[in-house]
Amino acid sequence: MKIQAINGFKDILPDTAVRWRHIEQRARDIFERFGMREIRTPIMEKTELFVRSIGEATDVVEKEMYTFIDKGITMRPEATASIMRAFIEHGLHVQQPIQRLYAIGPMFRHERPQKGRLRQFHQLDAEIIGAVEPRVDAELIAMGQMLLDELGLSVSLELNSLGCPICRPPFKQRLVAFLEQTSEGLCEDCKRRTQTNPLRVLDCKKPTCRALVKDAPSLLDALCPDCDRHFQEVQGALQGLEIPFRLNPFMVRGLDYYTRTTFEFLTTDLGAQAAVGAGGRYDGLIEELGGPPLSGIGFAMGLERIALLLEQRPEGEQPTDTTDIFIAALGQATLAPCSQLAHGLRKQGIRVGIDYSGRGLKALLKQAARINARFTLIVGDDEWASQQGILRNMTTQEQQPVALVGTTDELSRRLAEHLQVLRH
Ligand code: HAM
Repeated sequence: MKIQAINGFKDILPDTAVRWRHIEQRARDIFERFGMREIRTPIMEKTELFVRSIGEATDVVEKEMYTFIDKGITMRPEATASIMRAFIEHGLHVQQPIQRLYAIGPMFRHERPQKGRLRQFHQLDAEIIGAVEPRVDAELIAMGQMLLDELGLSVSLELNSLGCPICRPPFKQRLVAFLEQTSEGLCEDCKRRTQTNPLRVLDCKKPTCRALVKDAPSLLDALCPDCDRHFQEVQGALQGLEIPFRLNPFMVRGLDYYTRTTFEFLTTDLGAQAAVGAGGRYDGLIEELGGPPLSGIGFAMGLERIALLLEQRPEGEQPTDTTDIFIAALGQATLAPCSQLAHGLRKQGIRVGIDYSGRGLKALLKQAARINARFTLIVGDDEWASQQGILRNMTTQEQQPVALVGTTDELSRRLAEHLQVLRH
């Protein structure tokens, strides 16, 4: 029997990897424009870290973690908890009170796999630690929006505030009282959540639950004056940056550490998986994990979901791998000098394709087209004898002679310069 990959764990093949690299490069570029610095943390942590930060009564902790029970360690289901652990462990705030950090990497959740939902998936994660000002919330959201805009993706932004430890507990009590009155019609999960995590009932996707919670009290009406002011200022700052958003008082988020601002970037183009990215504030988390009383805000975007959206763009806008030049070595005598020339060009920073099979020109030109070569250098026995190769522009099909004289080093340098000029 052939061995296949595990369900929900996917290979990223070269045609997809080029799209991923494009997304990652854009993300790094934009994050760094906002002063973000990269952090890389291990893919496993002590289980307790996730239980304490994400929350015991969340789906992630209750049902989705890959845990080595005998070792007490878990494959990370998200990046925020690990970044906070590293931040505290290395006292990063001592070096610089406000830390802007980003991470890119795989996460693991035991969910039911479907389009855009995997068990090993990848996140682009960004966090700003140590700043409480509402403008920071707006700036971070604007950074996420800029990335999606520059990738040419259209998404909608939804915004909510989840309040703080002052205004949320009394709201929860009112919500539980409301839910207990309507509990008959709720789904089994929500009946249980009414006791364990009542806010989650608000964003249950089942139509019957949705209809019932439509009239539930709204947290936005119950915010304390500080949270209300903060949220108003976030909205004002977003308007100032011309970032459109829609308020959604039913958006709760599946992780327990959130306070105040929460947001989601949504798409209608991925079926059931609407969230391309999401995040929010977590003002008590660092202290809860034994660190200083610092606030933070962040988001994570799903790389698979962004890549799927990018795939739906017109073909001309798809990132592809390219080769600068393909060397078509025809005839046994040309193989050795052409391989030396290829090596010399690669040393000059040129992307070179070459084939040593001795196939004919037609087959080699086909191969050059398949690897997206911009130029093909044709060198047959005659060209080698007369020291005149043929340089073919693969887009225009124009051909021009190039002198093959000089040592390999000279020739590669000259050809590399020539290609750079032709490329621009
Ligand atoms: P999250 O909403 O759990 O938040 O995940 C963020 C994004 O990761 C989702 O919007 C989605 O694009 C992607 N994602 C989540 N699960 C899967 C999956 N099974 N397959 C594919 N993509 C998935 C967090 O993880 C928070 N740590 C975000 C955050 C950072 N909040 C503050 N800082």
